[in-house]
Amino acid sequence: MRKKIIAGNWKMNTIVEDGVTLASSINTEIKNVTLRDDTFVIIAPPFTHLTFINQLIDSDKLLLAAQNCSTETKGAYTGEVSAEMLKILGCDAVILGHSERRAYYHETSDILIKKLDQVLKNHMIPIFCCGEMLEQREKGEHFKVVENQISEVLFDLSEEDFSKVVVAYEPVWAIGTGVTASNEQAQEMHAFIRKIISEKFGNNIADNTSILYGGSVNPSNASELFSQKDVDGGLVGGASLKADNFINIIEAI
Ligand code: 13P
Repeated sequence: MRKKIIAGNWKMNTIVEDGVTLASSINTEIKNVTLRDDTFVIIAPPFTHLTFINQLIDSDKLLLAAQNCSTETKGAYTGEVSAEMLKILGCDAVILGHSERRAYYHETSDILIKKLDQVLKNHMIPIFCCGEMLEQREKGEHFKVVENQISEVLFDLSEEDFSKVVVAYEPVWAIGTGVTASNEQAQEMHAFIRKIISEKFGNNIADNTSILYGGSVNPSNASELFSQKDVDGGLVGGASLKADNFINIIEAI
């Protein structure tokens, strides 16, 4: 069954104390929201918060994600955090290939293939991000860019493994800018993503793949974006850092 998902990517924000307060408010307030069986909420705090937040979550609708993981299993990789470590801390999911990681930490498709393998081996949900830059959209290259990002990393997976992946379309020009893709732009790209998945893995798998939209989602634009046929929820940055805003976005699904 295709799931509806609202995920909050906290990025490098909040110290532990504030993060615990935020997670605790979300965990409490979410219990007052009527969510369908197929709807889940995910929060992705910084690594340092995961243990504390995992201990306080007691809503079965709220899952925990990390924002990144190592390409490697273990060993002499100073500063890295393995997927196994994250699984043991209670993570259910890992965000992979966020445009900030692609841009600032030079994450390529080859790197993401290894990270994806680590996440799947450790039985977590990969939330795979894709999305074009403004110049690429202006040149009309956005479909090709997104297709390459997806096919290079996800299309060598088995059907079984691909079925575990959540895709997040985040146009880079909409991230943190306050400029959201229009409902039509979001729907058009999500339909395209579902089409290429269908061509590769068949209609059934494509129909069951959750495709989230990210980029300046807020309580005012969430419900229209989420009402688009192929938009199955959102990956939310700035607006996930205030419990009330995030809950309003969850209510829009
Ligand atoms: P904003 O919601 O702050 O634009 O960030 C989107 C994002 O990058 C989520 O991963």
